Formats: sequence, structure tokens, C-alpha cells
Amino acid sequence: MRIGTKVVMGKELPACKETRALAPPVYLAAVYTFENAQHGADLFSGEKEGYVYTRLQNPTLKYLEEKMAFLEGGEAACAFASGMAAISTTILALCDSGDNLIVSEPIYGGTFALLDKILPRWNIEVRWAKAADFVNDIKNNGLVDEHTKLILTESPANPTLDIVDLKTTAEFAHQYNIPVAVDTTFATFYMQRPIELGVDIVIYSTTKYIGGHSDSVGGMVVSSEALIEKIKYKTCVDLGGIMAPMTAYLFLRGLQTLVVRMDRHVENARKVAQYLEGKAEVQQVFYPGSKSHPQYELAQKQMRGPSAMMAFILKGGREAGKKFLDAMQLCQVAVSLGAVTTLIEHPASMTHSTYSAEDLAKAGIEAGLIRISVGIEDINDILEDLERGFAAIR
Ligand SMILES: Cc1ncc(COP(=O)(O)O)c(C=O)c1O
Repeated sequence: MRIGTKVVMGKELPACKETRALAPPVYLAAVYTFENAQHGADLFSGEKEGYVYTRLQNPTLKYLEEKMAFLEGGEAACAFASGMAAISTTILALCDSGDNLIVSEPIYGGTFALLDKILPRWNIEVRWAKAADFVNDIKNNGLVDEHTKLILTESPANPTLDIVDLKTTAEFAHQYNIPVAVDTTFATFYMQRPIELGVDIVIYSTTKYIGGHSDSVGGMVVSSEALIEKIKYKTCVDLGGIMAPMTAYLFLRGLQTLVVRMDRHVENARKVAQYLEGKAEVQQVFYPGSKSHPQYELAQKQMRGPSAMMAFILKGGREAGKKFLDAMQLCQVAVSLGAVTTLIEHPASMTHSTYSAEDLAKAGIEAGLIRISVGIEDINDILEDLERGFAAIR
């Protein structure tokens, strides 16, 4: 099966063997009964397999986890209440007090807040390296030591679309037996195959392209059986940030149309990038599918396609940006991304407002940067709306 079929079928259809239901059943049950006292004890000790309590496992979550592992090319997966739950739980599963992790910058503002404000309270140190020159930056600054327990990357990076060289990073990290994680939310398994490049842990905010319709919040980690044992069974079930079964159903539904949505997203995004690059008012466009992207060659090599996230800087800076956003009628001024609707926002004051002005400058997030998640609407309507923005700043 090709990927466009795999997203529809999963490993096989129908989704439920007992009933031959084409769509998967949603098991809302929080609790599962035991046949007798010994059966309960056997389930808890691991002697027997079976459901106990939904925080530990649930048939609908299991179905989604198995489908995501299948699509991503991993052995196992763990579904979370949000992308942030996936990221925080993964870090806590692998790092103890006194350890450090190396992280690519820039990174999503919520992840930055976790790394910058919460982890230091638990004596977990974060060491930053530039996403666009990641391994060299790690080497030049001697960031690895015996307490380095994880390398966490985000590629393409939010909001600048910097690309981390995942293969080189994995080869480097494995010399020290350090696992590499990538937040692949911007790309999805359709645009990027991190496990094939040697990455150990693939992280998602499924809230974005996997769901696709801005109606559900969730996260996912795909990895090896051994790492999922640590992340899910040794950490997530006790920290408690599991996905709700109804939400899992929405992601299963979203997955089936991911490839057709993504094809349209990319078709539109290529045209939007081209349009923006032709505008005198635009200082720079950041889109991995454009030759002007500083890491275009790497993006071509590492990704199957450029996805549909982009950013641009207006020559008029922040003030022009405000006028531009206020002129939008179709594109929705909102955070989040990966939705059928085109979403436009200002990272410095919205998604990345957790960064101080100093941190923004250090991470290369310009005050005048505008981020667009290109939707699947008619391209002519999207371009006409952007034209309204340019008219407003002229
Ligand atoms: C790249 C990236 N990772 C993680 C997250 C966090 O995901 P969630 O909002 O589902 O917790 C986001 C949210 O915008 C994101 O953009």
C-alpha cells in the first residue's frame, strides 16, 4: 500500500473485526471489569493482557496509536492530551534532576516556556543550539556531556521554518547513545520520515494537520517498543496526560483525509510563497519549498514536500504587520496551524510571546515576522485576501 491508501485503510479495514463496522468504535468506558480477583491481579502484574482502566489503555486510543505507529514507520506509539503533554512527558521520561537536554532553537513558544521556566525548577538544564547549524553548534560549544539524556529538535521550526539536519543529528547523537526526538508537527509523516533518517522519537501536536479541522487538541509520540515502554507505561500513565477517547476518534477520522488535504495545502502554499516573493513590501519569505530558503537543498533532501507553513517579514515592520492582519477578511487571525482554514498570526506577540525580547532576538524571531498556515480554500480567494493586506499598508 502507498501512503495515500495507508491513511484510509490503516493496517486493514474494517476497523472493528467483531462487528465489521467500517468506522472504529469509541470506547468511552473509563473502567473494565475483571473476571475474578486473580484475573485482576494478573492484569496488574502483566501476567495477562487486557484493559483495566482508560488512563492505562483504552481500545480506541490503542487503535489510534497502532495506526500512527504504522503510518510513521515506528514500532509503537502513545497518545496524549495535547502536543505539550507529549513533549513534557517525553522529557520527564528520559531526564532526571541533574541531567541536561540539548534543544534546537527556535522552537514553539509553549515548548520554550516548558524548557525555559519549568524544567529549571526541577534542576533539568536546557542547552540551546541553532536549528540551522545544529550539530556544528553542539560540537563548537561542547554541549554534550555524560548528563546529556536527550536531543530535542523541531523541524521545520516554528515560526522561522529553519530546518534541522535530522540524519546528521541522529548519527552524531548515537555516538554518545543519546536518543534524538523531533517535533514533526509542521511536516507530518507524509512530508517527512524522521525514523528512516535515524531519529528515535517522533512527536506531534495532533491538534494541527492530523486533526486538520481545529476541533480537537491532542499529541502523539511514535518510537520503539522500548522507548514507548518508558514514555507511556512508566511515565504517561502516572503523570496522567492521556488523550480522551472521543478525541482519538476525531484524529482517526482526520487521518483518513490527511493526504488529500496536504496535497491541496502544499499546492496553495507554493502559490502563496511565490506571490509573497513578488511583493515589493516584503523583505523576506521563509518557506522550505522556495529556492530562497537558506536551507532549500536540505529541505529537498530531507522532506518529501515542503508542507504549508511559511513566514514573512514586511519591510514596514511590526506596525505594517498589524495593519496587514487587521485587513484580512478570509484568512483568520488566529494561532494554531494545519487547519483547513488559512490562519495568520504574529509570533512575537502571540505564539512566541513566552520569549523575552532578548530571547526572540537570540532565537532569530524578528519582531516583524508574520506566520501563515495556508489552508485548503480556493487559492484565488486566499491571494485576494492577502492583497487586501498589501493595500492596507500601501
Ligand atoms: C510545533 C508545535 N509543537 C507543539 C505544539 C503544542 O501542541 P498543543 O497545542 O497540542 O499542546 C504546537 C502548538 O502550536 C506547535 O506548533
